[in-house]
Amino acid sequence: MAKDLTFSCTACGAATSKWSGRCDACGEWNTIVEDKALSTAGPAKKSLGGKRGKAITLTDLATQEAAPPRTESGVGELDRVLGGGLTKASALLVGGDPGIGKSTLLLQAAARFARNGLKVVYISGEESAAQVQMRARRLGLEKSPVKLASETNLRDILTTLEAEAPDLAIIDSIQTMWADNVDSAPGSVSQVRASAHELTTFAKRKGISTVMVGHVTKEGAIAGPRVVEHMVDTVLYFEGERGHQFRILRSVKNRFGPADEIGVFEMTGKGLAEVKNPSALFLSERGTPAPGSVVFAGIEGTRPMLCEIQALVAPSPHSQPRRSVVGWDGGRLAMILAVLESRCGVPFTGLDVYLNVAGGLRISEPAADLAVAAALVSAREDAALPAEAVVFGEISLSGALRPVVQTENRLKEAQKLGFTSAITPLQAKKPAASGLTLQQPQDLAQFVQDIFGDR
Ligand code: TYD
Ligand code: MG
Repeated sequence: MAKDLTFSCTACGAATSKWSGRCDACGEWNTIVEDKALSTAGPAKKSLGGKRGKAITLTDLATQEAAPPRTESGVGELDRVLGGGLTKASALLVGGDPGIGKSTLLLQAAARFARNGLKVVYISGEESAAQVQMRARRLGLEKSPVKLASETNLRDILTTLEAEAPDLAIIDSIQTMWADNVDSAPGSVSQVRASAHELTTFAKRKGISTVMVGHVTKEGAIAGPRVVEHMVDTVLYFEGERGHQFRILRSVKNRFGPADEIGVFEMTGKGLAEVKNPSALFLSERGTPAPGSVVFAGIEGTRPMLCEIQALVAPSPHSQPRRSVVGWDGGRLAMILAVLESRCGVPFTGLDVYLNVAGGLRISEPAADLAVAAALVSAREDAALPAEAVVFGEISLSGALRPVVQTENRLKEAQKLGFTSAITPLQAKKPAASGLTLQQPQDLAQFVQDIFGDR
C-alpha cells in the first residue's frame, strides 16, 4: 500500500516498505534511506495563503543577451559532441567504464583548450600528480600550460578554484571527492550528490566551466545518483569495447546542442586520435562477404555511419537455445526472431543465435531491424548477401517494413564508400537519385523470398 512505503532508493528513486542493504529495483548498495516526505505526505499543514511573498518580475521570452561564448578545442570530434565547442560556465559529466580512456581524453582536451586561450585546472582525485605528469609526457603534453593538482578535499578545491579563477576546471573523478559537511564515505551516493551540487553551483556563480568524470556501473548508469545527470548541462558517455581501439563519445543530454551526437576516436600508443571517417574504419576489418554478415547504413546523431552486423546460427546442444547479443538490444533481437518465425516461416527453434555489431559500436536505432533480420536469415541459410549492398529499415510486428529517417543521407554515405545497391523499405516519396540501385521489398516475407529464394 502506498502509505506504507517509507523508504526510497537515492539512486533510482524506487520506494519500498522496509530498509535493505541493496535496492531491489536497481541493485545499488547502501542507497536505501528513510523517506520522511513520503510518510508525511498529504496536504501541507500550513497554507501559503496567510503570509504574502514578494512579487517576482516576469519577463518576455525574447532576449537581448548574446548566446554564451564557446571555445573550440580544435578536435572536431569533441567539438561536435559538445554542440560546437565548450560553453562558458557550463557543467559537464563524462561517464564511462574504468580504463576506457576518460582521463586520457580529458587531459588531451585540457591541453587543447589551454592552447586556445583558456585557463585550465585539472584536479585528479584518483591519481597522484606524478602519475598524471607521466601520462602528459606520454601524450607529449608536458609543455602545456594546464595547472594540475592531486586532491580530494572539496573545500580545499573550491577555495583554490576561487583564487585561481580558471575558465575550465576538470574534476577526475566525482566519486573520489569528499565534502566534509556530509557524513559518509567518498563514493557514496550522498557524497557524490553533494559534491556535484557544490561544484556545479560554484562553477555557475563564478563562470567556470566544469567537467566532472563519473564512473559507470555494470548496468551502464553513472554510479551513484541519477540526480547528478539532472544537475549538469551536458552528459557525455565515453564507450567502447575493451578489446577494440575505437572509442565513442556520445552526448546523451546537452542543453547547448543536439543530444545523441557522437564523436569517434581511436586509442593509440600516444593517446586518442580522432577518426574523421568512421564508416571506413568500421568496415575496414570486413573480409570477403560471408554468410551472416550485413552492412547496415545507420545514423548516429547527425551523421551517417556504416557498420557491419554479424550473425551466427548453430544447432543448440541445450534445451534452451542461447540468444547472445553484443552492441544491440536483446529484446529487439527476440522480436525480430519472432517476426521471422511467425510471418516468414523461418524458425529458429533449437538453434543458438549470436548477434554482434562489429568494431564495438552500440546501435539503438530501429532502422537496424532489417539488417539484423538479413544477417540472421543469411547465417541460417548459409548464404551471403550481395557484397555491394547496404541494408536498413524498421520491421513491425506484422512483418511490414517501415521507412526510416534520413534515407538520403544513408544512401549518400553508402555510395561514398563504394556500395552500389541498397535494400530498403518502400517509401511514399522516392529518395532522390543517389546512384545506388534500390531494392524495395513489400514486406519482410518478400525480402526473405527475394534474397534467399525458395528454401
Ligand atoms: P585512462 O584514461 O586512464 O582511463 P579512465 O580514466 O577512463 O579510467 O586510460 C586507460 C587506458 O588507456 C589504459 O589501459 C592505457 C590506455 N592508454 C593508451 O592505450 N594510450 C595512451 O596514450 C594512454 C595515455 C593510455
Ligand atoms: Mg581515470
